[in-house]
Amino acid sequence: MAMGCQIFVCVALAAVLGAALGLDEDMDRPLFGPPGSAIRVIDSDPGLKKALHFAQERYNLGSNAMHLRKVSRLISATKQLVKGIRYTITVEMSNTQCKKSTMLRTCDFYPELQQLKTEICVFEIWDIPWQSTLNLLKQKCQPKALPEETTTVEDASPEESVELLNLFKDFMVKYNKAYSTQEEVDRRLQIFHENVKTAARIQSLDQGSAEYGITKFSDLTEEEFRSTYLNPLLSQWTLQRPMKLAPSARSPAPASWDWRDHGAVSPVKNQGMCGSCWAFSVTGNIEGQWFLKNGTLQSLSEQELVDCDGLDQACRGGLPSNAYEAIENLGGLELERDYSYTGHKQRCDFTSRKVVAYINSSVELSKDENEIAAWLAENGPISVALNAFAMQFYKKGVSHPFKIFCNPWMIDHAVLLVGYGDRNGIPFWAIKNSWGEEYGEQGYYYLYRGSNACGINRMASSAVVN
Ligand SMILES: *[C@@H]1O[C@H](CO)[C@@H](O)[C@H](O)[C@H]1NC(C)=O
Ligand SMILES: *[C@@H]1O[C@H](CO)[C@@H](O)[C@H](O)[C@H]1NC(C)=O
Repeated sequence: MAMGCQIFVCVALAAVLGAALGLDEDMDRPLFGPPGSAIRVIDSDPGLKKALHFAQERYNLGSNAMHLRKVSRLISATKQLVKGIRYTITVEMSNTQCKKSTMLRTCDFYPELQQLKTEICVFEIWDIPWQSTLNLLKQKCQPKALPEETTTVEDASPEESVELLNLFKDFMVKYNKAYSTQEEVDRRLQIFHENVKTAARIQSLDQGSAEYGITKFSDLTEEEFRSTYLNPLLSQWTLQRPMKLAPSARSPAPASWDWRDHGAVSPVKNQGMCGSCWAFSVTGNIEGQWFLKNGTLQSLSEQELVDCDGLDQACRGGLPSNAYEAIENLGGLELERDYSYTGHKQRCDFTSRKVVAYINSSVELSKDENEIAAWLAENGPISVALNAFAMQFYKKGVSHPFKIFCNPWMIDHAVLLVGYGDRNGIPFWAIKNSWGEEYGEQGYYYLYRGSNACGINRMASSAVVN
């Protein structure tokens, strides 16, 4: 998203650069032409492969850059029959993560656009196959402009940079961050800077009372945050198992309700670096259902689901609707302390002997927030899912993000609805998250109630214990 480059911008840029390097001609070359003329070569041409490899090698030998650079894109290539073959190749060359001393073949590119330091290069290579010689006739490179204007720390005013560095230092101390190399520190500072700006943008557009700012996720790119903590499967509606619709509540919702005041909610847990939010959402719901049935609150095992729920994908995401079914098939859940959380998938170590909570079925709730509230007050905490983009930046208060930050169709995080009410006239949902107690307000996120904010109404469900 942040790195998105609108297609027309890229094309325009390529055209400008192309003109500067004189590659317009190459783009227009026919695939076949009169003998001796330059013709376009297809990407899989073995001679071209050999020439590219050679060009790359010579390029790296001739540069004093610290990192190995590789061809990141082939723009065009022609060959001309001379005494032997003359290749004219235009490519993008970018930084890999390897230092020069390592093998060229196994090095990945940097994931960040800034780090790639991409250049557009034209190489002319003369291949004389019968002499087994390759010659580099020409090499001309120029930096490729980044598709978007990017702000770097250096662009900030001196006072701003000092302030930013202090913020970053405080952040590193507060959240115990350590980075292994100076490059990593620079990269994280850059990301941190972007996140400080994004938080400010969400803050300026918030319609509730929320405060956004630096959180423990502030050194992660959106991509890293998504892939580590969120659950893209939740938006795959087609993967959802159909569930029965829950009977509606017998009476209308009271003005406010909070299951924490009634002992139905266990302490906030921490999913760690594993996309297992779905498991935490579901165990939270079942803990509530068993509290209501049995009068005792027991903390239940998420790791059992990470390891043994074959319908879901462990740390790569899952769906509550699947998890209920898996629990029914397994026979129930063990206690948290009997099957404790490790945050990575292991071999299933479930024993039915240790089951303390079974379920008999599951239901899907209404998509009407008033009906969800009424159901919650009567029946216990509810498993819900939402778009969590703004949650990366949330600190406290009632969050009411602008819709562009919180597309209700892009649901990517499962959580537990434990209560609702009003704060200074702003209606909210109290949401138990699974990112530790230091997240948000003692581990909780408060979201505006009444506008289906962030898609909070789209995937409400509960287990049923008979
Ligand atoms: C509640 O569950 C616990 C543990 O499974 C059990 O020992 C206890 O007898 C149950 N109590 C009631 C009232 O069902
Ligand atoms: C609910 O499930 C449990 C455990 O599988 C089973 O023992 C019990 O009979 C079921 N209850 C009903 C009413 O089906």
